[in-house]
Amino acid sequence: MRERFPWSSETASANPRLGVPGYRNIAAPPWDPAQPVDPVAAAEFLQTFYGEVGPPERLVPRLGEVNSELARTGTYTHTPEELEFGARVAWRNSSRCIGRLYWRSLRVRDRRGVRKADDIFAELVGHLLEATNGGKIRPTITVFAPATPGRPFSRVWNEQLIRYAGYRGPDGSWRGDRQYADFTAAVHRLGWRGEGGRFDVLPLVIDTPGEGPRLYELPEDAVLEVPLHHPNLAWFAELGLRWHAVPTLSNMRLEIGGMHYPFSPFNGWYMGTEIGARNLADTDRYDMLPAVARRLRLDTSSERTLWRDSALVELNRAVLHSYDRAGVRITDHHTESLRFLKHIEAEERQGRLVPADWTWIVPPMSSGITPVFRRYYAEIDLRPNFYNDPSARYIGRRGVLRRGDHTRSLARQDWRGRWLGGTSPSPLCRRRAPRARPVSRRGRCRRMTSSQWRDRRPGRPPRTGTTGDRAPHEKAGPDRACGAAR
Ligand code: ARG
Repeated sequence: MRERFPWSSETASANPRLGVPGYRNIAAPPWDPAQPVDPVAAAEFLQTFYGEVGPPERLVPRLGEVNSELARTGTYTHTPEELEFGARVAWRNSSRCIGRLYWRSLRVRDRRGVRKADDIFAELVGHLLEATNGGKIRPTITVFAPATPGRPFSRVWNEQLIRYAGYRGPDGSWRGDRQYADFTAAVHRLGWRGEGGRFDVLPLVIDTPGEGPRLYELPEDAVLEVPLHHPNLAWFAELGLRWHAVPTLSNMRLEIGGMHYPFSPFNGWYMGTEIGARNLADTDRYDMLPAVARRLRLDTSSERTLWRDSALVELNRAVLHSYDRAGVRITDHHTESLRFLKHIEAEERQGRLVPADWTWIVPPMSSGITPVFRRYYAEIDLRPNFYNDPSARYIGRRGVLRRGDHTRSLARQDWRGRWLGGTSPSPLCRRRAPRARPVSRRGRCRRMTSSQWRDRRPGRPPRTGTTGDRAPHEKAGPDRACGAAR
């Protein structure tokens, strides 16, 4: 095993190919939405698909079909089975995700035909309801239309379907999630009015080529939340903390066989430390450790009292306890670390590498006492995978396009770069506030329940191809943003 997988060895010197761990310094090749689909990437994926799923004799005819479609159109269409497998393998290859053991259980909702913002929103609500499943969270991905080379594509600006607003007060004070302060300000400019609370769920900005960016507020019943309390510290509940049940990353690009799906939100379930040791603890997020320490009456006069560490443990106990009590699936970092090593073994038995990024796999608390700490991993970039594009990242945090980025202007060229004409592009850049048509303003407009959304008119989009109804697993981790560790 060591010979085949030298990175599983315990010392870096036994692994000269890798050098210093941390391959994120080597950026993944940037995605150019104007480029035609790479036929080599398509062929590689089809080989994997017909090799693992079969039947193998279909490979050659399928390659022929795909190549002729590529030659004709510059793109091709995955079969529902290829899409399902591709999405699952993208999870399997997500090197930052510790929860990949049950990658086969990912439920794939094929919604490639849904194009209008209202219909997309209804599908996103459907995703949250199905994935939340009353607390028995199911790893789920909804795949909307792939990007056609050189054409504009639909996406959601938000980093996750559920995130909390952050507000900066005139006196420099903070409320809510600081990470989303710019995004919150941007959706305010688009017409949303947050209540100024600590846990206001942000609206979604659904951006389609036909309709531009539009705001939607999630119905309350689509957002399961867990108020936090502690197993034996009664005052903990008075801190008024809560978190949402389902982490659903919504701005990562799923890449399968050279095809790009920039709009394919997916979720797993939480590992407690993501909430307790990052979201609520980071100084640039909710920064709760000083408040917890005060209530614990810890001596905060010196770092050497380890007051931060004590407060961190209690906060994390509260997260796990509250989710358990609420019947919302969550995992802890000890259990998950063991499972991850089992996953590596199982995959290696199949002759497959498990790409992993130590800096994300190792949990953000108690790292050295988890078994994932004392070893190295294969730091390789395998496809299919999920990618976090700089432009999506930017808009997910700031709520505006980066200068120079534009979606509509792509409509003027086809994938060969030929001019298609059309109206002049209006890049929504920082200088020019985007014009959205907010359909949902607090106080002015509607916050429907999810069933009202689904039943809102008779011709609602057909629901196709939900698959993989097997036991769910921890995290549908994006390669470059599973987010559990670090
Ligand atoms: N770390 C992110 C968050 O706190 C979520 C990333 C995905 N995590 C997961 N368990 N699938 O919201």
